[in-house]
Amino acid sequence: MKNLDWSGLSFGYVPTDYNVRCYYRNGKWGEIEISSDEYLKLHMAATCLHYGQEAFEGLKAYRCPDGKVRLFRAEENAARLQQTCRGIVMPEVPTDLFIEMAEKVVRLNQAYIPPYESGASLYLRPLLIGTSANVGVKPSKEYLFLIFATPVGPYFKGGFVSNPYVIERRFDRAAPLGTGKYKVGGNYAASLKANKLAHEKGYVSEFYLDSKEKKYVDECGAANFFGIKNNTYVTPKSSSILPSITNKSLMQIAEDLGMKVECRPILEEELDTFEEAGACGTAAVISPISHLDDIETGKVYSYGDKPGAWSTKLYETLRGIQYGTVADKHGWTRVVID
Ligand SMILES: Cc1ncc(COP(=O)(O)O)c(C=O)c1O
Repeated sequence: MKNLDWSGLSFGYVPTDYNVRCYYRNGKWGEIEISSDEYLKLHMAATCLHYGQEAFEGLKAYRCPDGKVRLFRAEENAARLQQTCRGIVMPEVPTDLFIEMAEKVVRLNQAYIPPYESGASLYLRPLLIGTSANVGVKPSKEYLFLIFATPVGPYFKGGFVSNPYVIERRFDRAAPLGTGKYKVGGNYAASLKANKLAHEKGYVSEFYLDSKEKKYVDECGAANFFGIKNNTYVTPKSSSILPSITNKSLMQIAEDLGMKVECRPILEEELDTFEEAGACGTAAVISPISHLDDIETGKVYSYGDKPGAWSTKLYETLRGIQYGTVADKHGWTRVVID
């Protein structure tokens, strides 16, 4: 294992030894290639650079207390990437290819998988880009799919602690019939300004209402939202949010723990009725919300400075499954190194 300051890692980029690549040419995917180069040689007219033909994914490999290394729900990331591919007219990366490359990049970089005790993990970033030169707006003929790996610490400093969020009405992240449900770079570009303003005001992230009416809850920056009341886990149904794999898992765990689960539109006013609320995603698992401020109306939705009982239980169960300490009864994990 490399000698890194594992517990001091942030959610950033640390170089590792290898990435894996596969090219799509003449209508088919080629062989998997292993590379030690951190750079890409790209045509300056590549469609990914001009027309945003770019999609990515994010998943983690965990070094577990039993000594094994596990990947969490990689098939779900493959399926979501395929949805994104259909959404922005790129060839789908087959699930088998996705999984083979994910496993390979973990094994090749195993010296960079943080120790269990550090709370850090190995983040995988699959990336698919259109590489053909085109000056007219049309899909590329050729593509590059790659996966790199980088060790990461917690997304928010302090890990599982409650943080403040701010409702940002001046910007839309994605349109109702746009690309919000796909993991494409353009959505993140659209969020950067709102995110910067939120940080400047001391919030960990911006929080979006629906773009059309600003009446319903959408998501929390780069994470889905859930609220809890009366033993019920409630999460928004919206056509412009990313279908989070963490949220999907938490809905199942909530049900397993005996909670009711509702996925439906959530009016902003309903935020007042939740006993607990949180943001969820691969990076933080759950980031409990301490308070959510609607600066324009002066309304403050408060959920307490400490994570609530249900959020804690959900967090511990999901982390336990990822680290192999809680029974994986739905078969969500895949042992990559035994
Ligand atoms: C916009 C957005 N929403 C939600 C999520 C959470 O998704 P997941 O749980 O699959 O990481 C992410 C992170 O990938 C995201 O970027």
